[in-house]
Parts: sequence; C-alpha cells; structure tokens
Amino acid sequence: MALPDSFIQELLSKNDIESVASSYVAFKRRGRNLVGLCPFHGEKTASFNLYPETNSFYCFGCGAGGDVITFIKRIENLEYIDAIKFLAERSGMRMPENRQENDQVSRLRMRILEANREAARLFHATLYRPEGKVALDYYHSRGYTDATIKHFGLGFAPPGWDYLRNALRAKGFKDDELVAATLAKRGKNGGTYDFFRNRAMIPIIDIRGNVVGFGGRVLDDSKPKYMNTESTLAFSKSHNLFALNFAKNTGRELNLCEGYMDVIAMHQAGFTNTVAALGTSFPEEQMQLVARYADRVNLIFDADGAGQKATKRAIENLRRTGLDVRVVTIPDGKDPDEFIKNNGAAAFKRLLERSSNAVEHSLLEIGKTHTLSTAEGKLAYSQEATKVLAKIESPIERDLYAGRLSQLLGVSKDAILQEVEQTRRKKERQEVRYQLPNLLRQERKELQQVNPEAAQNTRAASAEESLLGTLILHPDYIKSVRQALAPEQMVTSFNRELYRRLLDRERQGLLVELPFLASDYDQDGMAYIAKMVRDMGERVVTPEEVARFAAIIREEHTLRQIQNPAEASDEDIQKMLDTLRERK
Ligand code: GTP
Ligand code: MN
Repeated sequence: MALPDSFIQELLSKNDIESVASSYVAFKRRGRNLVGLCPFHGEKTASFNLYPETNSFYCFGCGAGGDVITFIKRIENLEYIDAIKFLAERSGMRMPENRQENDQVSRLRMRILEANREAARLFHATLYRPEGKVALDYYHSRGYTDATIKHFGLGFAPPGWDYLRNALRAKGFKDDELVAATLAKRGKNGGTYDFFRNRAMIPIIDIRGNVVGFGGRVLDDSKPKYMNTESTLAFSKSHNLFALNFAKNTGRELNLCEGYMDVIAMHQAGFTNTVAALGTSFPEEQMQLVARYADRVNLIFDADGAGQKATKRAIENLRRTGLDVRVVTIPDGKDPDEFIKNNGAAAFKRLLERSSNAVEHSLLEIGKTHTLSTAEGKLAYSQEATKVLAKIESPIERDLYAGRLSQLLGVSKDAILQEVEQTRRKKERQEVRYQLPNLLRQERKELQQVNPEAAQNTRAASAEESLLGTLILHPDYIKSVRQALAPEQMVTSFNRELYRRLLDRERQGLLVELPFLASDYDQDGMAYIAKMVRDMGERVVTPEEVARFAAIIREEHTLRQIQNPAEASDEDIQKMLDTLRERK
C-alpha cells in the first residue's frame, strides 16, 4: 500500500528516532550519537548506536540497523504497514484513508472480537444454569473458587452442535463471522456447527482487554484434552500469553508456566505475575513479549520429560532477549497446579525462592565436593566459588557473598574481591575475543545474503556502498553523480537497484532518506543500507571523493566487461586500455 510521502514525512518529523528508541533502550550520549544495549540481541557491553542526524540506528554486535520504521518493525514484531500505524498512533496522527479492503478487514476483526466477547459472556453465564452445573462442579473439584472463576471469566460450552451458534445468530452475528473467529466450523453440506462442545472454556484476553480466543478443556479424560482458537484476524498464538492482561502490571518479574490451569491456580494462590505460553514451542516472538514486561522470568514447567524439553526450548528462545532466566524445579513430577493443591502457597513460595537464589545454590553444590579442613581443600573451594561470584552483576551482592566467603575460609574479604574482579576482567576479555569474530562472521553471512555479489567484487562494492551511503546522507550530490555514473555501471545488482531507486526518487522530487526506503526493503536489506549510511556518516565527504567513488565504479565496470574479451566491442577494448593506462 503506497502512502503519500507527505504523510510519511510528517510521521517522521513527529517520531524522531531518538525519542522513539529511548522508550526501549537506555542510552548514553557519545559525541553526536547515542549508545546503549542492543534490544535485538543479548549483550553486556553497549554496541547499539543511534545516529540522530541521519535518523538511523546500527548495532555493531548483531548487525541490525535501519531507520525508525525498521526499528519499530523489529522491536514490535510488526509488518511495515502496522509499524506505520503504530507510529501514527504514538504521535496522534490519523492514517490516510484509502483502502476499502483494509476497512473490511479491520471491520471483520472487530466483529470477531465482539463475537468472542459475547461467547465468553454466554459460556460464563451457562456455568450457573442447570446445563452448566457439571462444569461448575468440575472447576470446584479442581479447587477453584467462585471468585477465581469470575476473575478469569471461566465458562462452559455445553454438548450439542449449535448452542453458541444459535445464541450468537440471535445477537446478529453472521455465520461467516463465527467461522472467521473459529467459534464455528463449516460442514461438508455448507452448514455450520459449534467448534467448542462440551468443554470447560477459558477465555484468552489480550493486554487491551479484548477476548482474542479460547482454550477449551474436556471435563474427563477424553482426547484431545485441549482445543484452542485457531489463528484468526484477531489471534495468533505466538503473539499472546495467557493472563498477561493481569500479570502485565505486577512488576518486572514474570512466572512462565505451561498450562492455563497452572496459571489459574497460581493466581488464586497469590502469584498474580504468572502467564502461560499458548503451546509448548515458545516461539521467539512470544519470548520477546515476555521481555517487554519483565526483566526476570521464572520458568515453571512440569518436572517430567516433556517439561524438561519445554524448559530447554524456552531457555533457547529466551537467550536473545537478554532476560534474567531462572528455572524452578517442582519435585515429584508435579505441575504447579497440583503442587499448590497438595502443599499450599507457602511451600510454592519456597520453591520460587530456592530457584532465585542461584548463587547460594551453586556455592552449596561446590561445597559438597570440597573439604574445608585442609588448605588445599579451601584453595580449591575458593577458586570455584570465585567463579560463581564473578558471574554476579550487582557489586553489592558480590560484596555480600565475598564477606560470607571470607568468614568461611578465614581469608580477607579484599583478597577475595580482588580475585573476583580479576576473573571478571578475564571473562570480559574472553567474551569480547570470542564474540567479535563470531559477530563479524555473522555480519558477513548476512551481507552475503543481501548482496551476494559483493564478496567477489570487493573493490567495486566498497566504492558503490561509499557512494550510496553518501548520496543518502547528502542527496544534493545526486544531480552530479547522475551525470557521472549510469545505474548499469554498478557492478553488484543490489547496489544497482538501490542507486536506481535513489535516482528515481530524486527525479520525481521525492525525499531521499533512509525511512523512505523502508517499504521497499526487508529487515536485512535495511540493515545493509543502514550500514552504508553509518560508514559514511562518521566523515566529511568532499566532491572530489564522490567523483573518485564514481570513477572506481566505472573502472571496475569496464574491467568486468573485458573479462570476456571475445564479446567486448572495439570501443570497450579502447576504454579498457585507457583505464589501465590511467591506473598507472
Ligand atoms: P490439566 O491436565 O487440566 O491440569 O491441564 P494442564 O494445564 O496441566 O495441561 P498440560 O500440562 O497437559 O498441558 C499444558 C498446555 O499444553 C495446556 O494448557 C495446553 O495449552 C496445551 N495442551 C495440552 N494438551 C493439549 C491438546 O490436546 N491439544 C492442544 N492443542 N493443546 C494442548
Ligand atoms: Mn495440570
């Protein structure tokens, strides 16, 4: 969908990258730029750079880069058009109205949400009617109070094929709308029937209070145990967390469970900062969502094999968020719901605390393998313990544990702290040494994907990218460069295409700036372009330099043509000879 430039321009003027990014990243000023910890990969040293002058960002750690729209696309997990909407909303602008189709889609989305809300009301009311008694008894038998049932809006979809459909038809909903909400399914004969039948119904509510979907559980042991709302215009599993609507304002620590019932039991027991993933794959988008509301997450999964696998997957997908991740182990293969039922909330609180104190736990474990009655034993213990202390980020906490160790070992606290500091510095150096080649390699891999020809044409590509970066920063150069260099003369096709776009925009009198390219390129493409701009943004570029970039590109272009001399024209051969002569 093409939005008018004037609209984008206003949008950008109201959403400068500094104010937008500052709501996600804590920046420090460094000269004209700002630096902070990258929100797109976990890191301890700041390599995320913001360039207010060019309205762009670039991370030297993970290679993410681009303009303010690309930033929002990435951090909010949005498509281009939704990122625009997001920024428009943020700055109180109205989207230009044009597409009817868009209106229809958003209308249907609204109808789905309305149908869901009506369905949730009906399911809940049904609990207190004769036909719902069986489900109410079920909830009670699981130990859920009426207050909890009300709080979560729990309900019941009775057996039969048309209970909900008929009720919603009577409220003016079309069958198509119910099917779009996956509240109903279409049968072979074209008729519709209820999707959820004879199930305990758990509404899934998003952070804005919309009922976006349902989980439905059987009341007995039949299969499948759960059925969930499928993907709709209003619901995707990977962008939602069950009970986040309640948990989002409880602080910066979240408990993540596997199941709806676990969450309900946890909230009832007072742990209201608990959410559940909707499924067991823990996609990265969902983990990013966790990261938006928490700095620390406690993984509370069943102790069985499946739970252990889930734990591993979640940890893996949480790695990039940089969150502080703790694992809570529940004894005896129970899930949180069962554990709380059998042992009470206080016992569960102790489990949570035990996990949180990972340092003490580690020190205890080390203590098991060393004797403190000999000097050697003490030395070995202190070496291991130092490593544990070195991992603690808080200096106060380090000091505290150093004090305890000092007492235990009869060594001065200063000596221990010194040792810890040394270990930390060594670790940091190692990290940098290990990360750097990795990151460079990663960046190179990404580069290769965006512009695969650059690797074989380094001289040409480097001149092209210097030139293009300069043109985006200083569009006033475009006129003269247009005379000096035709798009076809660019050697690598990605750069050629970009150059063509810049020339086109300039010819049409449109603005040439990074954000105006965001609709044409994906994240990696934008990162690649942002890197060109970043590389040139640090320096003053003279007209002579610009001319030299163009000359190098022409030269490389000519040489490429001559690599196939049989096909070269006389004119080309002459050009090549001139070029070679010039080079000397
Ligand atoms: P209870 O047995 O009622 O205590 O449920 P639970 O919450 O302990 O469920 P369980 O640990 O078996 O599963 C955890 C989560 O996985 C559930 O909350 C569902 O989201 C999902 N799940 C479990 N079984 C099914 C199933 O049969 N189909 C689907 N789609 N999801 C399921
Ligand atoms: Mn359970």
